[in-house]
Amino acid sequence: MPRMSPDPASAPGDRVAVSASLVVFGATGDLAHRKLYPALASLANAGQLPGRLTVVGNARRAISNEEFAEDVRNAVEKAGDGDSPGRRDALDQLGVRFRFVPGSVDDADTFQQLRAELEDIDAGRDGGGNVLYYLSTVPSVFGTIASGLGKAGLAHEPPGTFRRIVVEKPFGRDVETARHLDDQLHQHFREHQIYRIDHYLAKETVQNILALRFTNTVFEPLWNRRYVDRVEITVAEQLGVEHRGAFYEQSGVLRDIVQNHLLQVLALTAMEPPASFAADAIRDEKVKLLRSIRPLEPSELPDRVVRGQYTADTIDGVDVCSYREEEGVAPHSKVETYLALRLDVDNWRWAGVPFCVRAGKRLQRRATEVALRYKSVPFLPLPAGAVDSLEPNVMTLHIQPDEGITLSFAAKVPGQTLQVRTVPLDFSYRETFAERAPEAYERVLVDAFLGDATLFIRGDEVHTAWEIVQPVIDAFERDAVPLAFYPAGSWGPTESNNLLGGDETWRKS
Ligand SMILES: NC(=O)c1ccc[n+]([C@@H]2O[C@H](COP(=O)([O-])OP(=O)(O)OC[C@H]3O[C@@H](n4cnc5c(N)ncnc54)[C@H](OP(=O)(O)O)[C@@H]3O)[C@@H](O)[C@H]2O)c1
Repeated sequence: MPRMSPDPASAPGDRVAVSASLVVFGATGDLAHRKLYPALASLANAGQLPGRLTVVGNARRAISNEEFAEDVRNAVEKAGDGDSPGRRDALDQLGVRFRFVPGSVDDADTFQQLRAELEDIDAGRDGGGNVLYYLSTVPSVFGTIASGLGKAGLAHEPPGTFRRIVVEKPFGRDVETARHLDDQLHQHFREHQIYRIDHYLAKETVQNILALRFTNTVFEPLWNRRYVDRVEITVAEQLGVEHRGAFYEQSGVLRDIVQNHLLQVLALTAMEPPASFAADAIRDEKVKLLRSIRPLEPSELPDRVVRGQYTADTIDGVDVCSYREEEGVAPHSKVETYLALRLDVDNWRWAGVPFCVRAGKRLQRRATEVALRYKSVPFLPLPAGAVDSLEPNVMTLHIQPDEGITLSFAAKVPGQTLQVRTVPLDFSYRETFAERAPEAYERVLVDAFLGDATLFIRGDEVHTAWEIVQPVIDAFERDAVPLAFYPAGSWGPTESNNLLGGDETWRKS
């Protein structure tokens, strides 16, 4: 056995959340209903919630405590798969209590009411004095809530208790707004109290990038510029904007996926080994890696960035409209639904290896993956005709939808002659493990309750990620990068192959 990290933070425990009050801002919203309440119920079923938990909801709509409890039950039931009876009451069975504090977060009185409610809960010793604030509301009020909590004395951590604030995405719109939001948070909360969400990090396979790289001997020696020719990272969605056209008009794929999820996956793929799997050890390495990404110069952007938008076509035989025809989208919108970037990582491990990343909507199929494409062998000691086409080895980490790892390599075709063909070596999570993988939001909630910040983003990481994409945001605003159109159901604009150089093409995921 190798020596292990002495860091207790990285040791597995029984992972039962501690007694606390969970305050959900945006308690009547979409995310709370589709993700948070079902995740709480799953945690209750798995025995991972404490006996004494009170969920305190806030929104402007005035509803009673009982109506709120019923609303949560309905959301849990709706999210169920139909064959898990009792889920609807899972939280009640555990004795979870529900309270609702109506009122706008723009109104200081709302926070006084919240304070009274939390004091009342504590008087009954229901929350152990611990409070987790979850900002599941519109991003424009994140700063207002932090300041409202601070001014009402609700950010201060009394000895032996915690007050944590979980901040949903997006964290700002650019470098400046992200800094401003951080300033607002830091006026009342210290960094160790702030949990910035990237739910991608809470996905099992994203975490498995770390396990694969740093608990095996065979991969790491091949994980560098000596062997890797290029790294491709793809986040492809088949879906369009799904009635969220107005939201997407303000976001585009750059802000929705690239600045956060995609750069986080890149950082985990490329970072150096951490001293332990503790939060700051991993986050230190991710920040170091993000800082090694060479800043994009405005003059080279046309060779480094492809900005695309889908046009009407068919996907799996179904007609789909163009982005510009979606509800809530301007008829001449230039918002990107596809973005491909060629990035360089200036460090000893990766110098000269391009990191080609792409993300888009209405692509041929849903796929999130990291592919390490290896260099070709220097010489083939085979007779002419032995090889039709020999692809370089590719190691692919499939993140969704079918989690697993594939390594493609050449093997001899059975027979009297020496012929080789590329074959896959496949590992599938679903086929190998019987254990159920927790939903990302289950992990997010338990980690926040337990104070494990490993899968949350530190302030310096967010800012570095915004700094990487800021030149692209500026160029889009100046319209300095042409908009390339691609038919829905394709793999994006053909122009994106130019980023790879030569006659290279992106992997057909
Ligand atoms: N939905 C998703 O799939 C998803 C996925 C990832 C991240 N997110 C993030 O999660 C957050 C919430 O998104 P969502 O889709 O749930 O939004 P939503 O459906 O629009 O819900 C917003 C919630 O905030 C409340 N609210 C708005 N303004 C308020 C104010 N001034 N004072 C008090 N309450 C206010 C609304 O209730 P009232 O109108 O009654 O006040 C509602 O409960 C956003 O940051 C979003 O980016 C969402």
